[in-house]
Amino acid sequence: MDSFSATRERSDELHAAITAHPEKFRVLTGERPTGALHLGHYFGTISERVRLQRLGVGLFVILADYQVITDRDGIGPVRENVYNAVLDYLAAGIDPSRATIFTHSAVPALNQLMLPFLSLVTEAELHRNPTVKTEEAASGRALSGLLLTYPVHQAADILFCKGNLVPVGKDQLPHLEQTRVIARRFNELYAPVFPEPQALLTATPHVPGLDGRKMSKSYGNAIQLRMTADETAAIIKRTATDSERRITFDPDARPGVSALLTTAALCLGSDETTLAEQIGDGGGAGLKKLATDAVNEFFARHRARRTELAANPDIVKSVLREGNRRANEIAEATLDEVRVAMGTVY
Ligand code: TRP
Repeated sequence: MDSFSATRERSDELHAAITAHPEKFRVLTGERPTGALHLGHYFGTISERVRLQRLGVGLFVILADYQVITDRDGIGPVRENVYNAVLDYLAAGIDPSRATIFTHSAVPALNQLMLPFLSLVTEAELHRNPTVKTEEAASGRALSGLLLTYPVHQAADILFCKGNLVPVGKDQLPHLEQTRVIARRFNELYAPVFPEPQALLTATPHVPGLDGRKMSKSYGNAIQLRMTADETAAIIKRTATDSERRITFDPDARPGVSALLTTAALCLGSDETTLAEQIGDGGGAGLKKLATDAVNEFFARHRARRTELAANPDIVKSVLREGNRRANEIAEATLDEVRVAMGTVY
C-alpha cells in the first residue's frame, strides 16, 4: 500500500474517532493569503473546517503571511487578502468565539520555534520534499532559503498550539510527514513536548477551474466566493465550452463542459452524469444557465453575510486582534516548555 492509500485508510478511522471524541482533537489548518478565496477553497477545506467546528473540535486557522514570500517577489496586497479571507471564514460559519484565526507575523514565539526545528532536519531531507520541488519549478525563480525551509516553518504552525489533526490535500502530505519527524526527534532528543499530528484527508473531490485546470487565481479560472451573482454569471459565460449540443462528462476531451458540471454538482449535491443527462441536448447555454443558478443559489447566503460583515471593518480587525492574542499566549507557553526541555532557562 502506498503512503497516500495508507493515509486514506487512516483518515476513515480518524473520522470515526473525531465524531466519538471531538474534544480530544485540535485542528490547525490555514492558507497563504495570496488572493481572494474561491470555490476550490470552499469545497476543499473551508466547509470541512466548519463541519469539524460544529462537531466540537478546537479549531486554529492560520493566515500564513510569511509563506506568501516563499516563491515570489514581494508580499502583494497582503492586508487586503488577510481581511478578505477572514470575511469569507466568518461568512462560511467559522465562529471566532470558538476558533482562533491568526497570522504568522503577529506571533513571534511561533516563529522562534523554527530555530530548534531547523536543527532537527537535514539539507537532504529538505531538498527531497516533492511539493517544494514542484513549487520551485512553478515559481520560475531560484530556490530561496525560505522556500526550501518553509515545511519546517509549517511544522511550527502546527506544533506551537499542539495541533494533532491537520485536514490537508494530497500536496500537503510531505509537509505533515516532516512535521511528525520534527516532533518525534524533538521529543526523543529533549523531552516529550509535541504531539505527532495526523493528516485528515478530506473527502471532497478535486474542484477544477473553469478551463479544467486547477482552480487558481493566477489562471483567471476561479469563481471567487466574494463575486456578485452578475460577476459569477459573467465568468461562467466566458468559459470555453464547445459546439456539441449533447452535454456529457468527459474531463479530458471536454474540460470546460466538465468543469461546469463539477461546479454545479458540488453546489447542488448531485453528480456530473446525472446533471449531464438532465441538460441533455441543452448545449453550452443550458449548462451555463444551470451552473450559474447553482453557484448563485448555493452562495447567496454566504455572500449576503459577507457584505454585511464587510460593512463594518472593525469586526474583521477585532477577530484578528483576538485571534493573534490567543495564538501568542499559547505560543509563549509552548516556547517556555521548549526552553525548559532544552535547558535554555536563565
Ligand atoms: N501550505 C499551506 C498551503 O499552501 C498553507 C499552510 C500554512 C498550512 N501553514 C499550514 C496548512 C499549516 C496546514 C497546516 O495551502
